[in-house]
Amino acid sequence: MVDDEGVPLYAVRDGKVDQGTYNGYRRYASACHVCHGPDGLGSTFAPALTDSLKRIDYWQFAEVVTNGRTNKGGATGDRVMPTFGTDPNVMTNLADIYRYLKARSDEKIGRGRPERYKSAS
Ligand code: HEC
Repeated sequence: MVDDEGVPLYAVRDGKVDQGTYNGYRRYASACHVCHGPDGLGSTFAPALTDSLKRIDYWQFAEVVTNGRTNKGGATGDRVMPTFGTDPNVMTNLADIYRYLKARSDEKIGRGRPERYKSAS
């Protein structure tokens, strides 16, 4: 599901998530977790995306993931967000990764693997 502007929407029912959000969890775990920490909570060198998504919108999120970003310098050296624009495992699942992280950011789901609800369709 998306809204009128094309922004992906998640759904949570009785603490369980829709298929897309669940898929987003799995994709996050395989592509983003290594840097952004478990459950979107951040690490010593990459920001907590649960916080980022309170600040940036879907289009900004998609831009950074597609094109990457390098933050030069600082006492701890360069901070590099890789470019995923040519990685189909990420690009075809970008909306779902956003759904999952947005649900986490909105505190609609907790830590760990979410449960899926069965959809009628
Ligand atoms: C190799 C480590 C690494 C991986 C893997 C990685 N990131 Fe990042 N990401 C970073 C770093 C470091 C930054 C901060 C860059 C900066 O300071 O400008 C960042 C920044 C971001 C931002 C911007 C956050 C903000 O507050 O502006 C988003 C969104 C993001 N990453 C999403 C993702 C997603 C989604 C994935 C998985 C598909 C992912 N990242 C995988 C290291 C990584």
